[in-house]
Amino acid sequence: MSESGPVSRVTVAMEVDGRRRTAQIPPRTVLLDLLRERFGLTGVKASCERGVCGACTALVDGVPAASCSVFAFQADGATVETAHGAGHPDGGLGPVQQAFAECGGFQCGYCTPGMIMLTTALLRAHPDPSEEQIREWVSSNVCRCTGYAMILDSVRRAAQLCREEAAR
Ligand code: FES
Ligand code: FES
Repeated sequence: MSESGPVSRVTVAMEVDGRRRTAQIPPRTVLLDLLRERFGLTGVKASCERGVCGACTALVDGVPAASCSVFAFQADGATVETAHGAGHPDGGLGPVQQAFAECGGFQCGYCTPGMIMLTTALLRAHPDPSEEQIREWVSSNVCRCTGYAMILDSVRRAAQLCREEAAR
C-alpha cells in the first residue's frame, strides 16, 4: 500500500481470483466495496454489512473473511478468492458449485456465494469433515430461505466430489 496524497487515497494491489488487481481508493473503503464496485465482482453479496451474516464471505489468503468488515488496505498484497473463481478451469461448475446445484442448497441464492466460499475453505482444512465440523462452519453464515438441510447436504456432497477430484 502506498500513500498518494495527504487526504485521500491509498493504492492497493492484490490477486483476486487469480488475477492481479490494483486500485486507488479512499482509505476507509471496505474490501466488499472494492470487490463489488471497483472490480465488478457483484457475486460477493452485501447484506447486513456488520460482519454477521456471511453473505459477503471471501477468502483472504485462504481464510474466510466477512469482506464488509475488512478494510481493503488490510488485504493489500493478499490473495483473495471469491465465488467468481469457484468454477472449474474447463469452464464448467467447480465441485462445490456442482454439489450445491445437485442438492438444491439454495433458494433465492443470495447467501450462496458466501456459502460456497465457506465450504471451499472448510474442505481445504478438513477434506473429510465430520458432521460436527460441517455444522459448526455452516453456522457462521446465515440463510434466510432453505432451513439449512439442503445446504448441509450440499456440503457433504461437495466433500465427496472434492475427494473424488483429488483422487484423479
Ligand atoms: S454483509 Fe458482510 S457479514 Fe453480512
Ligand atoms: S438461499 Fe436465500 S438466503 Fe440462502
